[in-house]
Order: sequence, then structure tokens, then C-alpha cells
Amino acid sequence: MSKSLNIAIAGLGTIGGGTFKLLMEQAEILERRTGRAIRLVAVADPDASRLKEAKKNGIRCYADALPMAAEADIDVVVELIGGSDGIAKKLCEAAIANGKHVVSANKALIAHHGTALAHAAEDAGVTFAYEAAVAGGIPIIKSLREGLAGNNIKRVYGILNGTCNFILSAMSDQSREFEDVLKECQQRGYAEADPSFDIDGIDTAHKLAILASVAFGGEVNFDAVHIEGIRHISPMDMQFAAELGYRIKLLGIASIRDDGVEQRVHPCMVPETTAIAHVAGSLNAVVADGDFVDSIVLEGYGAGAGPTSSAVAADIIDIARGLKVPTFGVPAAQLKTITPVPMQRHFGAYYIRLMVVDKPGVFADIAGALKNHAVSMESVLQRTRDPGEAVPVVMTVHKTEEAAMTKALDEMALVEGVVEEPRMIRIESL
Ligand SMILES: NC(=O)c1ccc[n+]([C@@H]2O[C@H](COP(=O)([O-])OP(=O)(O)OC[C@H]3O[C@@H](n4cnc5c(N)ncnc54)[C@H](OP(=O)(O)O)[C@@H]3O)[C@@H](O)[C@H]2O)c1
Repeated sequence: MSKSLNIAIAGLGTIGGGTFKLLMEQAEILERRTGRAIRLVAVADPDASRLKEAKKNGIRCYADALPMAAEADIDVVVELIGGSDGIAKKLCEAAIANGKHVVSANKALIAHHGTALAHAAEDAGVTFAYEAAVAGGIPIIKSLREGLAGNNIKRVYGILNGTCNFILSAMSDQSREFEDVLKECQQRGYAEADPSFDIDGIDTAHKLAILASVAFGGEVNFDAVHIEGIRHISPMDMQFAAELGYRIKLLGIASIRDDGVEQRVHPCMVPETTAIAHVAGSLNAVVADGDFVDSIVLEGYGAGAGPTSSAVAADIIDIARGLKVPTFGVPAAQLKTITPVPMQRHFGAYYIRLMVVDKPGVFADIAGALKNHAVSMESVLQRTRDPGEAVPVVMTVHKTEEAAMTKALDEMALVEGVVEEPRMIRIESL
């Protein structure tokens, strides 16, 4: 039997606690699968109460993780602290510099410093692995980097934030307001007290930047991601979406075009007939389109102690087996600098909702705004209400460049009789 692989867990919070449990409970199966013992030798957390169980099991405990990066008997540091900078970054850099493998679930860190960490790990001859950072329990990094390695990936997209999908699903199924569902999520502990990372799309954007890098062999470029969240989605838009044959989902989408790479996070209307439209509650799903494989869909839980520690364990198992794959699928020196395509050059179809007080000429002015920017209308829905009350007017338009759509929307907002900011949701052809 080979020498044991010695693990240190930094941070015993939700995911660290889950990983601790998995390594203790599954020790036998991990050893059978890798041919060597995987021993948890050290843990770190500032809260002494979280260290009790480890102490009982004779595992070395630290109040701060950083010294673990220098301990001679540790082979793998598992960073489960979080945050794009600060202690998590310092710990990963120090561990790599000391010749230790690093496993991390930290999407914020990788979205901002992934390329530098990949170079550092490669120079040091160690692994920097992060399966748990994207879509939790779904093995999408492994799928892209290994299972689909024979393909040119043209597009990768998905539902990458369970909190947003839970909120949108509840709004759609129960006709509830955004704020109401968010409050319930916070009470149940599904959403943070400050939920902005989730609902403003930032968490999805972190994961998308990582996916794009692995899919296209480029440097991680979080700053190139166009980000919009779900705060402005209303039950009324959900109803209209259903009438038009769509569901509203927050998607992260990365795709290759002749002029560069689009990376965008925003609410989308997705056709009812697609698999992704039916991914409900807090589930995640990722779709990858390859030139030979066609399209694959993976669905599962993207967060929580169990699913996320399952992904952490997969990385540890790869290291124990001596499996080495370049961090982002190609050697770090060969990662391309990808040209970002600005959102104004996005080409797609759109849903528009205006609140309109019926006055002579108002519809002609709205149609005129579209015509002035060569945007072609596909369909119109209108509801009647009492005279003098604002009524929703819903339009879908054929594919056009976003710059033209933006100008038409600006013009529509100025039409007399349009009483609210026009609402726009992009329609995705998937
Ligand atoms: N939660 C999820 O479902 C999920 C899913 C996928 C990925 N992730 C990622 O996994 C990572 C951990 O997330 P989490 O939800 O487990 O966070 P968490 O519950 O807040 O756990 C982080 C732990 O690290 C501890 N810590 C802080 N500073 C430390 C230090 N210097 N040394 C050692 N430990 C320290 C924290 O202690 P204090 O609380 O006392 O500061 C806390 O116990 C993050 O990068 C997150 O993005 C989470």
C-alpha cells in the first residue's frame, strides 16, 4: 500500500464541516478507491467549538489556518474559508509555494486570481483543484476538462445559483413577489442577511468566469462578465413569460463568437420545451455544447454541505491517485487572453413590457421607437383595464443587436403615456 495522503482542512464552517464528516465516514471507501489511506491530520477554525470533534479524534487543531501551509506532514491543504483575497489567498499561495496540493471551493478567489494560482501551482509541480467552486455537487469541471476534452466547446451555460433559482421558481409557481420569497429564504437560512452576492448575479458571474476559462482554454476574466441580477423580475413578467411559452431563469452564459467571447449573467426567458426550463427549486444545471458530443446537461445541487463536500472529495481522490490535469484544461502558459464581446454587441431576441395609459397616438409612438432603430416586432399582447388606468403592453422582438434595443427602449421611455421604466428580458434560443 502506498504512503498515506495527509489532509488539512482550513475552515470548519458549512463546507469544511461537511468535508470533515465525509473524510471521517468514507475513509474506508476512499482508501479502497485510491489504494492509499487518506488521513485528516489537521484542521483550523477560529471557533474552538467547531474544533471539538477533531480534537476528540486526535486531529491537530489550529485557530488560524496559515501555519498549516508550512507543516511538513501535510500533503494537501483544503481551503474552505472563502473570500477573494485575505487569508484564503494567502493560504493557497503559501501552501503552493511550500509544495502542497491545494483544493478549494472558493469561486470568488478563483474568479479573481485563478490564472495566477494556476501558474504558481504548475511552477511548483502541485495540483490546484476547485471542482466544488462551480455548481457544488455537479462534476462540471471534470466533465469539461476530461470527459469533453476531445471537443471544441462552443457554449457553456447554466443555472449556477440555487438561491436565485429557488426564488424564481417560487415566484413562478406561487405567483409571489420577489421580496416576499427572499424574506422566506432568509428566514430559512437559504439566503444570507446580505443577499446581494446571490441575487445581483455576482456569485453566478464568479462561476461563469471559471467555466468559460475551462471551456475555452482562456485566462479567467471576471471583469469581462456582464452582470445583472433578479431584483426587477415581477410576477407579472412570470405570467406573461408562461403565456408566451417561456420560463424566467437566471443564467450564466459563455459562448464563442468570431469576434471573441461573450460572458453574461442575466435573467433569461427560456423556452418551456428545454430541460433547463424545468430545473426547479434550489437545483443547479449546466449545459455544454461541443462540436462532436453535441449537447450535454448535468443537474444537481449546487450548494450545501453534502453536495459541495462530495466535489471536494473528488479532487482529493484525484490527487491521491496521482491524476494530474492542467488547472484550466491547458498548461497555464497556453491559456489564451480572450477578447471580450461587449454586451451592446450581443445579438438576440427580447421581451419588452411597458405600462401604458391609453392615449391617442401612444401605440404609434411606441412602434415608431422600434422602427427608428430597425428593431422588428414579433408579437404583441395587451390587457385591458379600467379607462385611465395603466395597462401592460407586452412585445417580443426578433433578433437584433443590443445597442439598437437599448436605444429603442430609451426612446420608448420618453413616449407620453408610458408611465414606468420599460422592462426588458432577453429571450434565449437554447
Ligand atoms: N456554502 C455553500 O453551499 C458553498 C457551496 C459551494 C462553495 N462554497 C464555498 O466554500 C467556501 C466556504 O463556504 P462556507 O459556506 O463553508 O463558509 P462558512 O460557513 O462561513 O465557513 C468558513 C469557515 O472558515 C472559518 N475561518 C475564518 N477565518 C479563518 C482562518 N484564518 N483560519 C481558519 N478558518 C477560518 C470561519 O470561521 P468564522 O465564522 O469564525 O469566521 C468559518 O468557520 C467559500 O469559498 C464558499 O464560496 C460554499
